[in-house]
Amino acid sequence: MYDYLALWDWVAFAVRWLHVITAMAWIGASFYFIALDLMLKPAEDMPEGAYGEEWEVHGGGFYHTTKYLVAPARMPEHLTWHKWQSYMTWLSGAVLLMIIYWVSGEIYLLDPNKAELALWQGIVISGGSLTIGWLIYDAACKSKLSEHPTFLMLLLFAMLVAMSWGYNQIFTGRAALLHLGAFTATIMTANVFFQIMPNQRIVVADLKAGRTPDAKYGKIAKVRSTHNNYLTLPVVFLMLSNHYPLAFGTEYAWIIASLIFLTGVTIRHYFNTMHATGTGPHWTWAVTVILMVIIAWLSVAPMQFETSEEAETRALTPYEKSFADAEGFEEAYRVVLGNCSMCHAREPFYDDNMLWAPRGVHLETQADVARQAKAIYLQAGLSHAMPPPNAVRTMTEENRRAIVAWYRDATLGEK
Ligand code: HEC
Repeated sequence: MYDYLALWDWVAFAVRWLHVITAMAWIGASFYFIALDLMLKPAEDMPEGAYGEEWEVHGGGFYHTTKYLVAPARMPEHLTWHKWQSYMTWLSGAVLLMIIYWVSGEIYLLDPNKAELALWQGIVISGGSLTIGWLIYDAACKSKLSEHPTFLMLLLFAMLVAMSWGYNQIFTGRAALLHLGAFTATIMTANVFFQIMPNQRIVVADLKAGRTPDAKYGKIAKVRSTHNNYLTLPVVFLMLSNHYPLAFGTEYAWIIASLIFLTGVTIRHYFNTMHATGTGPHWTWAVTVILMVIIAWLSVAPMQFETSEEAETRALTPYEKSFADAEGFEEAYRVVLGNCSMCHAREPFYDDNMLWAPRGVHLETQADVARQAKAIYLQAGLSHAMPPPNAVRTMTEENRRAIVAWYRDATLGEK
């Protein structure tokens, strides 16, 4: 029988693959157009209505691009739109979030030390918060505040800090940062879908009908694009952060995430200025380095993970119990203690260089092992990914079969 969990893991991998590819296409196109915009120069023989032009060389040919600020005198028959990169990134990201943080929410989303939530409650908060964030942001952009762009940016930042703190009060650190990234990315895609695209369509329709489009549409699109520009880099950081326990495993994770949004502004400001004027303001790198040093310092502040003692004394969640009560648990637990715990401990004792558990995965107490059943089964039962083959040589095929038997008993009732 082909294992359903293995198949599911491949689905997750495929969706992640798609997500990274579409995100590269979106961010790549976005960076390209920002750079192009800032590099445009006026020329003598430009057609009517043109604002600037740019010559580029790439892939064996020369490109000559002209930008029309409002529109060309005559609309071309064929117009290429850039929108699917953004939509596909959001859609694949939403599916990936569901696969990891909803379907495996017992492991990755819920933290019984922070909030006693049932999985469905966690899922409602997860999905609901992403939607509400956009509604608040959109209302703020449409209000009178839009006349004060700097204030609007500060307000957006304050909202992100509040969300960062809020998510960290209820979800695991890892899920909190990931959700903050998704919250931000949802605003970005919604900007494209609900604002930038519809406004652009109105302008195109006006031009085709021979009307002069209202300049306000271009202005709205500009504000939203500027927000997107500054949010891009932090979002990528937050999406990657779940691979780095130092980023999410401290009680200051919410401050780390907030500071990252500032680096998004300092780094983008350098490149934006450089594309426009030929040189960038170097002080932005000094600020970025200072921010990163603060982040690195915060990250080694006491880890937020429960202590071994807390983990040993806390009552098992129903999910954990279903694995701890399954047949073969004791044998599997013994295998894990003997082959995994030296590294995957709150205070690893594998060697002096290992200061925290790899990936923040703890496999010490019965609760730990029950909670991580799926991961243990995939990493050490079905595959030989763990333990690292050169580090631990005591793991036998029989040990792996014990893990497989235990996991299957718990999930399928198979012996
Ligand atoms: C010698 C130290 C060591 C031992 C022993 C060890 N691991 Fe790991 N484990 C690691 C490292 C290092 C990583 C991070 C790998 C990476 O970043 O790709 C890791 C990662 C993991 C992950 C997370 C994988 C992911 O992609 O998120 C799981 C789950 C895991 N190990 C389970 C186990 C199990 C089960 C055992 C025992 C059968 C075990 N490990 C034994 C060092 C160890």
